[in-house]
Formats: sequence, C-alpha cells, structure tokens
Amino acid sequence: MCGIIGCVAEEPVAGILLEGLKRVEYRGYDSAGMATISDGRLGVRKGVGRVSEIEGKQRLSTMSGSTGMAHTRWATHGGVTDENAHPHTSCRELVAVIHNGIIENYLPLKRALKARGHKFRSETDTEVISHLLEAEYKRVRDPLQATRAAVKKLKGQYAIAAMFQDRPDVMTGARKDAPLIVGVGNNVNFLASDVLAFIGRTDRTIFLDNLEVVEITKDAVKIVGPDGRRVRREPTQVAWELSDVSKSDYAHFTLKEINEQPRTVVSASVQDPERVERFARALKRAKSLYITASGTSYHAGLLMKFRLNKEAKVRADVVVAGELKEHTEFMGKGSVVVALSQSGETADVLEAVKEAKRHGAKVCSIVNAAGSTLARESDVVLLLNCGPEVGVAATKSFTAQVVVANLVVDAVLGKKRPNGFDELSDAVAEALKCERQVKDLVNEYRDRPDFYFVARGYESPVALEGALKLKELSYIHAEGMPASELKHGTLALIEKGTPVVVINPSGPSHAESLSNAEELKARGADLIGVSDEKDEVYRHFVRVPAVQPKFMPIVEAIPLQLLAYHFAVARKNNPDYPRNLAKSVTVK
Ligand code: M6R
Repeated sequence: MCGIIGCVAEEPVAGILLEGLKRVEYRGYDSAGMATISDGRLGVRKGVGRVSEIEGKQRLSTMSGSTGMAHTRWATHGGVTDENAHPHTSCRELVAVIHNGIIENYLPLKRALKARGHKFRSETDTEVISHLLEAEYKRVRDPLQATRAAVKKLKGQYAIAAMFQDRPDVMTGARKDAPLIVGVGNNVNFLASDVLAFIGRTDRTIFLDNLEVVEITKDAVKIVGPDGRRVRREPTQVAWELSDVSKSDYAHFTLKEINEQPRTVVSASVQDPERVERFARALKRAKSLYITASGTSYHAGLLMKFRLNKEAKVRADVVVAGELKEHTEFMGKGSVVVALSQSGETADVLEAVKEAKRHGAKVCSIVNAAGSTLARESDVVLLLNCGPEVGVAATKSFTAQVVVANLVVDAVLGKKRPNGFDELSDAVAEALKCERQVKDLVNEYRDRPDFYFVARGYESPVALEGALKLKELSYIHAEGMPASELKHGTLALIEKGTPVVVINPSGPSHAESLSNAEELKARGADLIGVSDEKDEVYRHFVRVPAVQPKFMPIVEAIPLQLLAYHFAVARKNNPDYPRNLAKSVTVK
C-alpha cells in the first residue's frame, strides 16, 4: 500500500515527481523518497515522515535529472526507518527500485543473493528486487529483459518501477496483483500506482494487465506480456480532472469530499440503463448470489443485500472480502459475486474475485476507479462516478455506492428508471447544515473514551459505518450494532454519560428503536438521535430530512461523517491521513 510515481521526460522531473507524490500520498505516509539520474549518476534521497517533511529536509526539489522515481510508503516489511524507505538500490547503486506489495519469497531470495556476495542495507522485501535486477541486468544488459527475468523469480504481489544508472533514458515497470499504470504525455511518460499521480500532466492512460512488464522512454511505451510477446494497447482517456484532486478552499480533502455529496449522489445515478439492466439480470438469474467488499464498501453491500432479500426476494449472502474464500461451498457455475470497492484495488476484494472466478462464478462490480483491476476483471461494471476520493475515510464513495446499489435493486424489481435524485441532492445539502450542531457535540464529548452507534433493520449498517468512521478518524473506541443486540452484552458497558448515537428514521422500526433508546437512557447513556422524527428521549437531536426509505442511509451518513471529521480535527489528528491506515489496501 504505497504510492509510486516514475517519470521519463525531456525536462527536469523533480518538480513533476513531487507534485505527483503529494497526490498519491494518501496511499501511504510513513516515509518517502526520490531517485533521479543526473550526469550518469543515480542519486537517492529518502527518509521517514510525510512528503512535505522529506521535501524540506532532503531538498527533493533540487534533485536534477530528467528521469526519476518517487515513492510514499506504508510499511509492511521492515519498520518505519530511513533505511527502509524507498527507493532501494543494488550493491553498486546501478539500479534503483520502488515497490508496492509484498514479496513472499524474499527470505530465500535474500539468502541466495547474500551467498553470492550481495550486501543488504534495509529490512525490506523490496531490496531483494534491486539486487536481483542488478544481477539480471549485468547478465542481459537490457532493462526490459532484466526486469522480466527478475520478476519471474518473485512470489507475492508487486507493482514496481526500476531505473538503471547507465540507461537514463529508460524506466521499467512490472505488476502482479498490485496496480501499475502508464501515463502517456507529450515528450513525457509516467509509471504510477494511480491516475492521480500524473493527472495534472496527462489524462491518457494505459492500464497494465497482471504479469505484464513495461519499458517507458520519454516518447515510447513498450509492453510485453507474460509470454514475452509485445502487447499493443492504445491509451484511454480518464475522466478525472486536476480540479477533482485539489482541496479547493477546504481545510482537508475529507471535508471537501463530504461536501461534494449533493453533487455526487446525482452523478452516481447517471448510469447506462442497459448496463444496469444487465447487472440486474445477472442477479435475478444467479443460482447463488454473494455480495463481497471490505470496510465501508462492505456496509454498502449490507444495505444492498437488505433490499434484495426483503423487497426483491432475491437471496444474497454478504461476506467480508477477506473471508469469502471460506464461504465457497455453494459457489459454482451460475453463481454471481457482486463486489463493491471504491479503489477497485483492495487486495482482499481482488482475492475474493479471483476465488469466485476459480469456482466459475460471474463477477459484477460497483467501483469508483475506472480501469482498476476490479473493473477490468468483472463481467459487468457500474462506476460510481463520484470523482477521486483522496481522504482515507470513505465518504462520498459510500453514498454513491448506496445510490448505485439501489439502482440495481430497483432494476431487479423491474422498476422503470428511478428518479428523485434532485430531491435527494437537496436533502443531502440540507443534512450538511448540521455542521454547527456536530461541532457542539464534539466539544461536549471530545474526551469520552467510547462511543456507540445503534440502529435497526435497513439502517443497521449505518450504525456500523458511523462507528468505523469515528474509530478511523478520531481514534476513539466505537462500536456499531443493531439496537436489538444491546441487551445481549453491550448494555453492561453503558454508564452515566456514555454517548450513544441512535439512528432511527420514522418507519417500521422506529418504535422499537425508541424502546431500546429508553433502555439505554435508563442506564445513564447520553443519547444523540439522528432521525427525521424528534423524540424527547434524545439528549441531543440531529434532524435529517425525510427522503425515500431506500435513501435514508445516505442522509443519515452525513452527520456521522461530519462527527468523525470534527472529532479528528478537535483531537489534532489529520483526518485525511489517519495513523496506520492507507486509502487503498493493496496487501492481504
Ligand atoms: O477501495 P475499497 O472500497 O475497496 O476500500 C475498502 C476499505 O478499505 C475502505 O472502505 C476503508 O474501510 C475506509 N478507509 C473506511 O473509511
């Protein structure tokens, strides 16, 4: 889970790399580094800290050379130290490598390389790649062929970019189960882990397939498939724009993305009806149907399942992606797996999809990143169309997933193209007005160690989502659960002043949730009601507008997102970059 950007250009690249590195920093922010080739010498500067810190300490912008690579790290192998930061070089510093992924056989490789006299400087698995590459390059004297030969020895997942001191005109890359794409510009070409890295420079992208190896120069791209044959693939134009990845006037991306939702719930609804129909048809015909996703996307999956079961009478199981492989007894030809993912690169989701395909299942996905691995490996894809989400916390992608999932369920139900998205957009805008109130709540509860979120029925996943968001951004312990579960254990933890958010829209489960709220109040809980209907049981009440029941989770999510965001700010956490986390979890 690291950010990669490499660039071969006509002009000096340090500035271009820094700009791109800051945009992929959301993928990892333990440490960062850069390598360039200048006057026939490969120079590397790196260290622990955020990109801006390393930039200042190591004066990255002063590195000269028109070929270079940069990396932002989320540590998996080896602690967060200067030595473990990327790029990694070979013994004689002839080769530099940046890597995202995990090399599973790095220990035997390292032992073998050491036995042949290679000296290692870091504890990372990545360093073996640079030594392997040096050895292969000395043998074949061709960057592309050396890269092919080196990656053939690797087991695990990788996206790598490599530079060779005596070939300053060239950069190579390779990928297996981790994202790597090519950006094609005018007299400049890029390798990167995602489009955001180079979106300011070009929107023409070539998505590499698994096991492909690539060589770029400033004006050429050569791709070779696993069989060694040349692959010719035209660039596609990506719809994202530079303005999508700026913070505008907002203090943080997360706040900007929360505030984009009146627009993104509408853009998510703009789908090709034929494709929605194909998606729905697959679900209706499925012999067995699974929904799979991780984290917030899993919560959207739970919402989708609820309506599929209850309204469309289509049976579906929802399984956390990392666990799907344990639930395949009834999966086979005729099964369908629906995968939801913002990034389309979450390793657990990709693994689940691979497993599903191994069993002969069809894969239908709901994904934000067009061209992502998930999007390309699915039989039917619906895109979220909500623009890039940079904040590590999923916000607008969640509400967009709920919109798209609802379009699919409506199509399964045979409903004509649903409308009402302008009203939904207004309702989301209205829900956003609770910010002042949310800040007051944060002032009152900022030092509480625990928070609880409860709901019933269709809204239960919203309670899970509220708790996940709060944990992730504020580092406060939080739990979400169906309100009915309280009395089976958690009630023992409620004491005077424990804050409990009760998500309780008017509707079938309103009265029962109120009873649960009374139980909580009797044990001293401070209740924060989130609903379109007020009740005196709540100590605090955040009103959300009434919308169609299927869309209520969208308006209910808004105050919960704002709550998590403002808790983070009040507790001096950076909401865009929560500790220990990364946006795209590309390792298992
Ligand atoms: O890109 P994905 O939707 O597949 O990501 C799944 C989770 O990693 C993600 O939702 C994560 O839980 C978020 N940081 C939650 O805000």
